[in-house]
Amino acid sequence: MKNSVDIAPAKGKLGVLVVGVDGAVATTFIAGVLNVRKGSGKPIGSLTQMATIRIGERADNVFPYIKDFVPLADINDLVFGGWDIRNENCYEAANVAKVLSERDINAVEQELKAIHPMKAVFDQFYVKRLEGTHVKTGKSKFDLAEQLRADIRNFKAENKLDRLVVIWAGSTEIFLKVSDVHKSLATFEKGMKENHPDIAPSMLYAYAALSEGVPFINGAPNLTVDIPAIIELAEENELPIIGKDFKTGQTLLKTVIAPMLKARMLGLNGWFSSNILGNRDGEVLDDPGSFKTKEESKLSVIDSILQPELYPDLYKDYYHKVKIHYYPPRGDNKEGWDNIDIFGWLGYPMELKINFLCRDSILAAPVALDLVLFMDLARRAGFKGIQDWLSFYFKSPMHLPEAVPENDLFIQLMKLKNTLRVMMGEEIISHVENDGVLSSLNLTDSI
Ligand SMILES: NC(=O)c1ccc[n+]([C@@H]2O[C@H](COP(=O)([O-])OP(=O)(O)OC[C@H]3O[C@@H](n4cnc5c(N)ncnc54)[C@H](O)[C@@H]3O)[C@@H](O)[C@H]2O)c1
Repeated sequence: MKNSVDIAPAKGKLGVLVVGVDGAVATTFIAGVLNVRKGSGKPIGSLTQMATIRIGERADNVFPYIKDFVPLADINDLVFGGWDIRNENCYEAANVAKVLSERDINAVEQELKAIHPMKAVFDQFYVKRLEGTHVKTGKSKFDLAEQLRADIRNFKAENKLDRLVVIWAGSTEIFLKVSDVHKSLATFEKGMKENHPDIAPSMLYAYAALSEGVPFINGAPNLTVDIPAIIELAEENELPIIGKDFKTGQTLLKTVIAPMLKARMLGLNGWFSSNILGNRDGEVLDDPGSFKTKEESKLSVIDSILQPELYPDLYKDYYHKVKIHYYPPRGDNKEGWDNIDIFGWLGYPMELKINFLCRDSILAAPVALDLVLFMDLARRAGFKGIQDWLSFYFKSPMHLPEAVPENDLFIQLMKLKNTLRVMMGEEIISHVENDGVLSSLNLTDSI
């Protein structure tokens, strides 16, 4: 079945407004894209820049690059800006973050120096370990959201942009649950005017972006767009939203290892995950309120893959523990240990140990780039609401209320690529080939 979608062309400039633009992820993402543009670095880790997609039968051998197959914005057309509670230009901030080498930062010094954060909407109640010095003041949360809307309009006009995307790469806020004030757009707007405590700053950015016709991405585990009011606004304004929490290090591994265990019907007794991390994110997560938000996001993953309710002999009552320790000497170079207690034939125990010495922001930067480009594509394709097909990039992917989340990395990848195929009027790929077995069963016509 062929199914094609009308996609507006990617003409003109695409503004990328990053919340937390002075952070480690943001500066690594921006400096990285600027280096790639100059030819002084390669966009390793980015599907939109490096991956291919198979079209047609395997025997056809047709594998175009994704960027040649779907009409993505060109990275030369991206214009960066954003907000932060610190008032450093992105050159200074990248040097503070110490993720990239001086060589890579200096290669794009002038471009980074030209990016100055706009004043943020911030309240220490939601991120205990930070103090904001570059923040907006206003009569109410509604008033602050109006100021953010004005920032978006001004940025668009000043830079003569055709379109925009807003991405949250700001700090992790305290754990919040969906409450009555989030239940509808009307209650949410009333709540903003009354300064309701369940409305966090991240929600104001999302509200402002969607009100200005701009897609919103949530890279942190915050509740932010995962509330009925914001979903309603996205649907009403026909805009895509997605979150939450970039899937980069330990959880990326989990969503590969857990499907392997399940595929081979191997059991699990326990999964102990520990991390040391020394960047500002690690410091923020040292606060129990912010850690709780991260913990919830990290813990939910394995259950949804292993389905203990379907496989009680294998996965009932396994013990899952996640710890993050703030350890300044390591900076952004996180070290994660996983001890996985598994069992096989007749219940004989085995152990799996993984020691991942990764670089947090090096893994997150290509994810941010892909999400910006795919969300802009989704907008031009008229996709609205939750973009389930981008689950691939998230620890705790937003999903339709009637569906369970999909966390298996390879199912997520298949879903992403099949969505691109459908967008472009190509057949989806089931990986069932028209081979001898199927011909002898006379089933090929129905595939
Ligand atoms: N690096 C990864 O692999 C990864 C993976 C998943 C999620 N994340 C999440 O991404 C976010 C950013 O991570 P990071 O390592 O860049 O952290 P960071 O502390 O270096 O950067 C966060 C930035 O956000 C700013 N900020 C905080 N509150 C703000 C607000 N209300 N408005 C504007 N700016 C605000 C801070 O001043 C800081 O510059 C964190 O929430 C983190 O948990 C990171």
